[in-house]
Amino acid sequence: MSKKVLISISLGIALLILLCLFFVYEQPVGAPSPKETNPLPITNSSVKTPETFDKTKYSLTDSTSIWAVVNKKRPLPKGFIPTDLTVPNVALRLAPSAEQMKIRLIAQTDLMDMFSSAKNEAVNLVFGSGFRSESYQKQLYEQYSSQSGQAQADTFSARPGYSEHQSGLAFDATAGSGKCPLEICFETTPEGIWIMNNAYRYGFVIRYQKGKEPITGYRYEPWHLRYVGKELASELNKTGQTLEEFFGLENATQY
Ligand code: DAL
Ligand code: ZN
Repeated sequence: MSKKVLISISLGIALLILLCLFFVYEQPVGAPSPKETNPLPITNSSVKTPETFDKTKYSLTDSTSIWAVVNKKRPLPKGFIPTDLTVPNVALRLAPSAEQMKIRLIAQTDLMDMFSSAKNEAVNLVFGSGFRSESYQKQLYEQYSSQSGQAQADTFSARPGYSEHQSGLAFDATAGSGKCPLEICFETTPEGIWIMNNAYRYGFVIRYQKGKEPITGYRYEPWHLRYVGKELASELNKTGQTLEEFFGLENATQY
């Protein structure tokens, strides 16, 4: 065989090997390796793109809105009484006929779910004080002011017309054991701990948080729960913000 023929055969074989290698390993530049690719194409609608929270969904100023912000800068309309007050079917601190044993119907189901879930975990929540009329709040505020002085009273009691309790969307929880009622040590009771960890799942938030006094205008109240609905409660739990912070409202230290 001539030298020329031998060279041609060698070149042909080399070309063939190169072609085979090209087809076996051919991949576009920058394409992920099979390991990195998604095993299944995402065509399913159960995988949702995270949506941004709609902060305008409910009114912050309408007193009947579950997002109504009531504080020292944002009173309720004079003499406001919600029209859907109801006595919840939970452990009550007082007789069902007492004015304070009411909450708005809109919060009732979530409230009852919360109490029964707690009970399933041997945590005995008691509905201590819910709705308060403006006149009852006046009585309380005047009593605290004469006992402690107005400046002190303003750190823990709302003036009449400025209490979330009047909205019918707030209540004070107490422990079945009777320990630490309306006291900071409530946070160490099983009920206080449970509330801290779980209330948001039922649409309630601890409205006056520790360390947020310069924003809310009130001392820490681990027992005071405010209904805002599950959607917002979860968001506030995630961010650790007060209503004022979340909605970018003015701090409410002063009237
Ligand atoms: N203790 C809360 C601030 C109220 O009086 O409504
Ligand atoms: Zn309260």
